[in-house]
Amino acid sequence: MGRAAAGVAVGVAAVACAVAAVAVGRRIRSRGKWKRVARVLREVEEGCEGSVGRLRQVVDAMAVEMHAGLASEGGSKLKMLLTYVHTLPNGTEKGTYYALHLGSTDFRALRVHLHGQQSSVLEHEVEQQPIPQHLMTSTSKDLFDFIASSLKEFIEKEGNGSELSPDRRRELGFTFSFPVKQMSVSSGILIKWTKGFSIVDMVRIDVPACLQEALARKELDMRVAALVNDTVGTLALGHYHDSDTVASVIIGTGTNACYLERVDGIIKCQGLLTTSGYMVVNMEWGNFWSSHLPRTSYDIDLDSESPNPNDQGFEKMISGMYLGDIVRRVILRMLLESDILGPISSKLSMPFILRTPMMAAMHEDDSPDLREVARILKDILEIPQVPLKLRKVVVKVCDVVTRRAARLAAAGIVGILKKIGRDGSGGITGGGRRSDVKMKRTVVAVEGGLYSGYTLFREYLHEALNEILGEDIAKHVILKVTEDGSGIGAALLAASHSSYNVDTAKML
Ligand code: BGC
Repeated sequence: MGRAAAGVAVGVAAVACAVAAVAVGRRIRSRGKWKRVARVLREVEEGCEGSVGRLRQVVDAMAVEMHAGLASEGGSKLKMLLTYVHTLPNGTEKGTYYALHLGSTDFRALRVHLHGQQSSVLEHEVEQQPIPQHLMTSTSKDLFDFIASSLKEFIEKEGNGSELSPDRRRELGFTFSFPVKQMSVSSGILIKWTKGFSIVDMVRIDVPACLQEALARKELDMRVAALVNDTVGTLALGHYHDSDTVASVIIGTGTNACYLERVDGIIKCQGLLTTSGYMVVNMEWGNFWSSHLPRTSYDIDLDSESPNPNDQGFEKMISGMYLGDIVRRVILRMLLESDILGPISSKLSMPFILRTPMMAAMHEDDSPDLREVARILKDILEIPQVPLKLRKVVVKVCDVVTRRAARLAAAGIVGILKKIGRDGSGGITGGGRRSDVKMKRTVVAVEGGLYSGYTLFREYLHEALNEILGEDIAKHVILKVTEDGSGIGAALLAASHSSYNVDTAKML
């Protein structure tokens, strides 16, 4: 080989070495980045861990807090609010009643026709409208004027078709899905806002009075016969269809539960008497807190940046308003710490940009190349060309966050069953062996998109119920989805509390 040829060979070898070194370096760096991705994933998995042992601790804590909330005002973060509903609809109600539901970004007006026969068929018409964003943080007058106008339009469309006799005033059940301290079945003051609403002048103000005044301003002659939480409406409709229904749970934008409590168990209201001996208690379980809850740094950050820090801790781990944002926070930290995709889109830092329905769509993407995940990451978060391996990690994050939410909701439900002695253990003070206890059929009415529209969430919730209760007990506990119970149930309660017909509801 001549000198020149040798020189070229050496040069080529040197370039090859350099290229190989760069490739190896890149591979090592890439491996380091993937390791950091895996570490963030592992940490979030560990942080969200909800073993059956831990869930049972949550069950016990829920039952204990329920007792504390019933024992004294402020005795627990669980408010355990009285609803003054002590009879539930049973199918004998008759007539045409109205309902209004205000509780999330949409509000609904309903007209419900009740035929008075124990029939499972209810006729109703409904109109849904988005609430303009600015009204959610403006004044009570603006919000209620808007609602009253929409209700008036809804009623005017009735034309002559109304089944009401002309001398009879229209009656309305008002579903107001926020914490309210009720003074009677048709009056109550707002304790605080949740779910992103913030109309300062309404706090501690009588809610039906605001509506009644707005109706008067619009010259709409209508009486608010019942003020109900959405859980209470759902329980009412659940009970109308199935008299074994003893509790209801909402798992949607927000989360909450109510159940039938014995009046003598409501210690904070001694002397309270009802003919049935029971009262529906609105737990406001979104505010439940226990050191047993599996809380991560993402939950802590979400809470401290929210408009209601230290409030609604359970809700912030479970409900549709928040799950997407927890996932967004995990992805953000993953990308920041690993640098796996280089510079990060500013969209990923925007709170609530990843909404829970989008998160659920990624979680339930069953295409082999996770096309939907890629699309959402690109369109919503502006992260293009995410490798398949990372898309799989994103799906795993959705899974971890959703599974924790569903398992906690299941623990909450068992907490209620324990409190009312329907968990097969003989109740909070009972030491009965599970096999000794004769279980009654127990129905829990459920509503909310997370449960009814998100298959994996529902499956995880049922799996956890079975794990906590054991299959022998769990088979007696039936979760039944109600359709628009929060609205129709309010109309049913307006019927039971009608000033014309106070006698329609049978005592329990
Ligand atoms: C509210 C509850 C409501 C639940 C479900 C929570 O944010 O505080 O009153 O029942 O959302 O809508």
